[in-house]
Amino acid sequence: MSLLRMKRMKERICMVTCYDYPSASHVECAGVDVALCGDSLGMVELGYATTQPLTLDEMLHHCRAVRRGLSEEGPLLVCDLPFGSYEESPEVALRAAYRAMKEGRADAVKLEGGRHVARSVAKLAKSGVAVMGHVGLTPQSIATLGGFRAQGRTAVKARSILDDALALQDAGAFGLVLECVPPPLGRALSEALEIPVIGIGAGPHVDGQVLVYHDLLGALSHPHHRRFVPKFCKVFADIGDKAVQGLKAYKHDVKAGAFPDADFSPYEMPDDEATKFQ
Ligand code: KIV
Ligand code: NA
Repeated sequence: MSLLRMKRMKERICMVTCYDYPSASHVECAGVDVALCGDSLGMVELGYATTQPLTLDEMLHHCRAVRRGLSEEGPLLVCDLPFGSYEESPEVALRAAYRAMKEGRADAVKLEGGRHVARSVAKLAKSGVAVMGHVGLTPQSIATLGGFRAQGRTAVKARSILDDALALQDAGAFGLVLECVPPPLGRALSEALEIPVIGIGAGPHVDGQVLVYHDLLGALSHPHHRRFVPKFCKVFADIGDKAVQGLKAYKHDVKAGAFPDADFSPYEMPDDEATKFQ
């Protein structure tokens, strides 16, 4: 079912990031509606402090791997256009979007910003690229926003985000991500727009939710890692702890000579050959 139809039928849209073959196959097996190869890739997979250093080439390398983990009938694959790959002009944005589709094998792209990127969104939409917007907290602008913090907390600022969202819809975006805003703004956007509004830290009154794979699965919550889990994110599993436990058990058995035992030494040599050999 298309996302627009899901909104009309009031079926909530479930979207998750994924960045490689295994995470894509998990997302596919869970029956999630939309797989986002997000530029959070730079932070949670590549260890950058922000999303800004990530290049389009890095993104495409991962997006292709995600595609290999998804089936034809599987989730819609959306690829983020990284910081610096699209802002200069609608033509530059179109080139980046075509690369995401041809080399990254994405179904659609997402880019950040409001009215100032509406011309680019229109160029993409008119050129056959399915494009998603992203408003509210836009992590690529972290340097000018002054940190990862909630947006739209005054009536004037909320109005401005609503105007941005309307401009993106008019430009031909098929959906929007709305990040880190108070729930009343989430509700207002979702009611004002015909296209689906997918929230992250935007409260429950939106058309769908998106979370970062590593955050919702507790992949990096080990004290060891710098990644903190945002306040709005529920942690549904603890795969980071599970991984560390498994690795410690493996190390223990290797050091103790307990692995591999006979059960895991499967390759036999016929007895007569073994005798000759020894
Ligand atoms: O890159 C990303 O993970 C995103 C989601 C937070 C929406 O853009
Ligand atoms: Na992103």
